[in-house]
Amino acid sequence: MRGATLSGTGSYVPEQVITNRDLERIVDTTDEWIVSHTGMRERRIAAPEQASSDLGTEAARAALADAGLEPDDLGLIICATISPDTLIPGAGSLIQANLGASRCGAFDLASGCTGFIYGLGMAAGYVRAGYCEHALVVATETLTRLTNWTDRSTCVLFGDGAGAAVVSGIEGEGGLLALELISMGEAGDLLKVPGGGSRRPLTPELLAQRADRIVMNGPELFKLAVRLVPEVAERLVARVGLQMDDIDVLIMHQANQRILDAAAKRLDIPDERVVSIVEKYGNTSAASMPLALDIVNRQGRLRPGDNVLLVGFGAGFTLGGALIRWTQPPRVPGH
Ligand code: UT7
Repeated sequence: MRGATLSGTGSYVPEQVITNRDLERIVDTTDEWIVSHTGMRERRIAAPEQASSDLGTEAARAALADAGLEPDDLGLIICATISPDTLIPGAGSLIQANLGASRCGAFDLASGCTGFIYGLGMAAGYVRAGYCEHALVVATETLTRLTNWTDRSTCVLFGDGAGAAVVSGIEGEGGLLALELISMGEAGDLLKVPGGGSRRPLTPELLAQRADRIVMNGPELFKLAVRLVPEVAERLVARVGLQMDDIDVLIMHQANQRILDAAAKRLDIPDERVVSIVEKYGNTSAASMPLALDIVNRQGRLRPGDNVLLVGFGAGFTLGGALIRWTQPPRVPGH
């Protein structure tokens, strides 16, 4: 059966860094609290003239270069984001135009921080069905634009960034081995932007209440993630007849170092196989997993035959995981 594999990865983060010390000047917080509760030390913030499609375009260009492809080789662009430049048009179409990809479809996908996994599943299915040879999944977020800068429980967490992967058809072994997507909409209130949609169109009153900004029940999300991430990981590994010990690289959604530690402990996966970029980039929502994936790829850490497990969770509430058998040759670090 025709398979689908990741043939290239890319990422982009804006230049400007916000440190915990910078945040101490904005809200009633401390570097010590942020580090001990989240593991974060800094995150990036988009320049005023940058929007999500700009970040995504850079990540997409890097992924195409890594795959050795041109924009016109793409048959589909899936943009996972909850912070598109505008509601209409979608960021996927803006990225398609920026790339000059003239022979492909494009759409946005809003599954919160799990978006990249959803996109990977859609792209792989499309490629496997033979509708195109190469599809691009680009996850890009400027969550600092949706952040309530007076709410210390959320504003210290989020950063901006983008990650992308080219999904290509292959004959034979490897690539995406297993996928699981879950939605628990009944828990949707745990992470939301209450105003600005068709339920509560923005009014001056709603804007004054900052209803256009993220509201989050962190502790409940924390508990859900620590319980459910290992369950998804275990099911994916069992489905393809592997043991957890066979997982070479585990990339989880980068929301909190304590979640990564607790889930890895439950799964009995040693720290050196667990990827963490929380300290440097904070929570970049949908971009966090492809950004982490590209970073380890560029470090030369991924080798053909490696089992790479991705598990994400986020707004919706959504959950999802993908088990990939790496097929690309290792990158030379620094290139
Ligand atoms: O990416 C989408 C999914 N998101 C997540 O999965 C987030 C998951 N949740 C978390 O990562 C954690 O719950 C947080 C990092 C958001 C919060 O950490 P926590 O250990 O769960 O803290 P908490 O919300 O229970 O708050 C503990 C205390 C509270 O004070 P009191 O009531 O005990 O006096 C908060 O007011 O910490 C206080 N607090 C802060 N203090 C200093 C909350 N935020 C801050 C802050 N600085 N930035």
